[in-house]
Amino acid sequence: MRDGQPNPVTRLADYQPPAWLVPDTTLDVDLRDGHTLVTARLTLRRNPERADKPEDLVLDGEHLELRSLTLDGRELNPGDDYRLDGPRLVIPGAPDHFTLTSVVRIEPENNTALEGLYRSNGMYCTQCEAEGFRRITFFPDRPDVLSRFTTTIHADKSAYPLLLSNGNPVDAGEEQGGRHYATWEDPFPKPCYLFALVAGDLACLSDTFITASGREVALRLYAEHRDLDKLDHAMDSLKRAMAWDERVFGREYDLDIFQIVAVSHFNMGAMENKGLNIFNTSCVLAHPDTTTDAAFERVESVVAHEYFHNWSGNRVTCRDWFQLSLKEGFTVFRDQEFSSDMNSRAVVRVENVDFLVNHQFPEDQGPMAHPVRPAAYQKIDNFYTLTVYEKGAEIVRMQHELLGADDFRRATDLYFERFDGQAVTCDDFVACMEEVSGLDLAQFKRWYSQAGTPVLTVTDDYRDGEYRLTIEQHTPATPGEPDKQPLMIPVKLALLDGQGRPLPLDDQGRAETVVILRETREALSFQLPERPTPSLLRGFSAPVSLRYDFSEEQLVTLLAHDTDGFCRWDAAQRLYFAALARIIDDGESAADQLPRLTPVLERVIARADEDPAQAALLLGLPTENAVGDRHTPLRPQSVHQAVSGLRAAIGEALAEHWWRLAKDLEADAYQGDGAAMGRRRLRRLAIAYLAAAAGQGALDADQVADYVARDFDQPDCMTNALGALRDLVHNGLAQNGRLEAFAERWADEPLVMDQWFAVQASVPGPDTVARAEGLLAHPAFEWTLPNRVRAVVGTLVNGNPSAFHAPDGSGYALFARALKKLDGINPQIAARLASGGARLKRLEPALADQLGAALRDIRPGASANLAEVLDRILGA
Ligand code: PHE
Ligand code: ZN
Repeated sequence: MRDGQPNPVTRLADYQPPAWLVPDTTLDVDLRDGHTLVTARLTLRRNPERADKPEDLVLDGEHLELRSLTLDGRELNPGDDYRLDGPRLVIPGAPDHFTLTSVVRIEPENNTALEGLYRSNGMYCTQCEAEGFRRITFFPDRPDVLSRFTTTIHADKSAYPLLLSNGNPVDAGEEQGGRHYATWEDPFPKPCYLFALVAGDLACLSDTFITASGREVALRLYAEHRDLDKLDHAMDSLKRAMAWDERVFGREYDLDIFQIVAVSHFNMGAMENKGLNIFNTSCVLAHPDTTTDAAFERVESVVAHEYFHNWSGNRVTCRDWFQLSLKEGFTVFRDQEFSSDMNSRAVVRVENVDFLVNHQFPEDQGPMAHPVRPAAYQKIDNFYTLTVYEKGAEIVRMQHELLGADDFRRATDLYFERFDGQAVTCDDFVACMEEVSGLDLAQFKRWYSQAGTPVLTVTDDYRDGEYRLTIEQHTPATPGEPDKQPLMIPVKLALLDGQGRPLPLDDQGRAETVVILRETREALSFQLPERPTPSLLRGFSAPVSLRYDFSEEQLVTLLAHDTDGFCRWDAAQRLYFAALARIIDDGESAADQLPRLTPVLERVIARADEDPAQAALLLGLPTENAVGDRHTPLRPQSVHQAVSGLRAAIGEALAEHWWRLAKDLEADAYQGDGAAMGRRRLRRLAIAYLAAAAGQGALDADQVADYVARDFDQPDCMTNALGALRDLVHNGLAQNGRLEAFAERWADEPLVMDQWFAVQASVPGPDTVARAEGLLAHPAFEWTLPNRVRAVVGTLVNGNPSAFHAPDGSGYALFARALKKLDGINPQIAARLASGGARLKRLEPALADQLGAALRDIRPGASANLAEVLDRILGA
C-alpha cells in the first residue's frame, strides 16, 4: 500500500455526531455464483444534533463496484450528482430527507480478509464489526447510526437451503431457476456492525427457552451436518447464560428467536450480531472425543459472552469505537462472573488473573500500550486487545467492588434503562455508578484514559504493637504518555498471624478491609499483637503490579493458609519466580532449589484432593514468557534452560507423588463435570512432571513413555489423548508413530488438526523452527484459515520463545515471511500476529538486531493494519 507512509489517524477529540441518520434500511442480497448483487434502500434524514449542517452526504464503501444510484427515484450521475472519493461516496448538496437506493456488485468468493460478506466452506456469512459493513454496501458505517433493517436474501435453493439474517423471519418463497428467498425483519434499531447474513446447507439443533416473563424463545444452533453432535454443550451453555442474565442482571431476551451459526473461517472468537451470533467453530463446537476440557470451558464462556452482548452492546451500544470497552470490558466482566457461578469461583478468578497478568500486563508495558479508552487509532481492528477486553473488565470489577453488589446492580439497571436504544460512552456508564452510589469517580476514570500497569510498592514496619504499611503507586511511562497521574486503587487486604490466621483489623474484629488509595503515597496503621504476614491485593482487587519484599517464610505461610485463592496462587508464583531467578541470574542449579521448594509442594499435594483444579494451578510452573518478562534483557534460551531444568528436577524429586497422583486420579469412565475436569487437570500436570523428568534422563524413559502412551492408545477423551501426545512429543519420548496416527485418525476434524499442528509448533528449542517450516508445507496447512495459521505461526511466535528466538534468527525469518504472505490474504490476521514481535526492545542485543531487521524488511508495502503494528514495535 503506502510505502513507508503513515496511516491516517482517527481521534476521539474530533468526534462529531453523524450528519444524517438512517431510520430504515432495506437490503436485498442476491447471491449468485461468482458475485453478489446488493441493493440497499436507505431512508436518510438530517440529524438535528448537527448544528453545522454539512453540505455533503458522505457514505463509507470499500471494495464495492457501484452499479446504480438513485435518489428519491431519480438516477444519479457520477461527476455531477456524486463522486467516489477513495473509500467514500460523496453526494454534495443532499436534501434533508430522502431515499437513496444503491446497487453494488461484490465478490464474496474472493474475500479472504473475512470482513464483510464472504464464503467459508461452501456457505456465505458476514463479519461486520468493526468496519466490515462498508464492504457490503454504501452506508454511514459508524456505531452511532442506528437503523431498522429489513433483509431479503436470494440464493440457489439446493446449495443454500438455509437463509438467515437478524430479527424475525417474515417472508419466504420459491423463485425461478431453482432459487428461493427469505426476508428477515429486525424490529430493534441497530448499528450496521451488528448486521449479519448467512446462507448455507447446515444442520440445526433446536430448543426453546421460556423467559422470566413467560415468553417462549426458539433457540437454533447451526453447524455443518457432520458437526451436529458437537452442539449440545453450546446449547446447554446458552440456556444457562439466558437464565443467569435474568437472575443476576435482570436482563431478558427480546426477540422470538436466537440463533448461532458455526463458521470455520473466522478472524476472531465470535460475534454478537443481533439475534444471529456467528461463531468461530473453535468457540462453539464441543464433544469429549474431539475437544479438550479447556476448550469446553471456552465454549461456555464465549457463548455466554456473545449472548450477554444482546444487552451490553446491542440494546445499549457504543457511540464511537473509542468506547469499545464500554461493551467489551463490561461483557467480559459479565462472562467472568457467569463462569465463576457455573464453576469454581476461586479457580476461575486465578485463571482470569493469570491471563491478565501474563498477557495484558506485557501489552501494557510494551510498545503496544494504549488506554482502555484510546485517544487515537489508525485501524480500529488493532484495538480489539487484551487491554480493551481484560483490563476493561477489571475496571468494571473495581466499580463492582467500590459500590458493592447491590448498588452495582442498581447502577447497571439504571444504565440499561436510561440508554436503551442509544449509542453511548464509558463516561455515561460511570455516571450511572456515581448517581446510584453518590461516589465521586472523577479520579477513578483515569483508569480509562491512562495506559500502563500501575506499580504498587508496599513497605512495612512493626514497632510497639503498631504495624505500619506504606503504599506507593507509580505508573511507568508508556509510548506517548510520559507523565502519569495517581489512580484511585482499591486494595483489599488482610493480615495473618504466625499460624496464618487473619488478625482482627479493627474494634469490630473485621478480618479483611478495602483500602482505597488516591495519593501517590499513603500510610496505614494497625494495632496488632505481633508482626503479621500481609495478604495484599486479595482477589486481585486492582490490575496492578504489587511489589513487596515477602520473605520466603511469609510466602509459605500464605500458600499454606491464606483463604484467598489469588493470594495463595500469587505466593506460589513468587516462590517459583524467585527460584528461577536464582538459576538465571545467580548461576544456581535446578537441584539447588529443591530443598526449599519440595517441602512446600508436598504440602500442596497433601491437600490436593480438597480441590484438584486449584492444586494444579498452585503446582504448575510459570510459562517461559512469564519468566522472561521478569528478566531484562530477555535471554530466551537461558529462560528455557532454567524452566525446563526446574520442571525436570521437580519431576524427579517428587516422582513418587506424581506417580501416585497419576494413578489415583485415573478415571474408570469419562465424565464431563467440573469435578472430573479438575481431577484430569491435576493428573495431567503430574504426568507432565514425570515426562519432563524422563525426557531429561532423570527417570526411566521407557516406563514413563509406556504409561503416558496408554492415555493415547485407549483415550477416553481428547484432553487425555492430546495431553499424552504432547507429553511424548515435547519431551522427546518414544512416540512410535503416534503423531502420524493422530493425523490420520483426525484428518477430517479441522479443530483437532489445529491441535496437532500446535503440539508440534510448541516443542521447545530452536529445532522447532525447521519443524514449523515443514508444517507450513504440510498439505493440510491453509494460509486462508485463521485457526490453522494461529495454530502454527501463532503458537511458535507467542507460545514458544526458545524456538521463535532461535539464535540464528531463523524464527524471525519465518515470522517475517509469514506476515508478508498473510498481509496479502488477511491484513487483520497479519497485524494481530505481528504483535508477537512486541518484545523486540527487551531482547538481548544480538536478537533484537535480527528481529528488528526482519520486521523493517516487510514494512514497505505493508497494509494499514500491519503497518500500524510494525511502526509501534519498531518505534517509528
Ligand atoms: N465483538 C466480538 C466479541 O464478542 C469480537 C469481534 C470483533 C469479532 C471484531 C469479530 C470482529 O468480543
Ligand atoms: Zn465481546
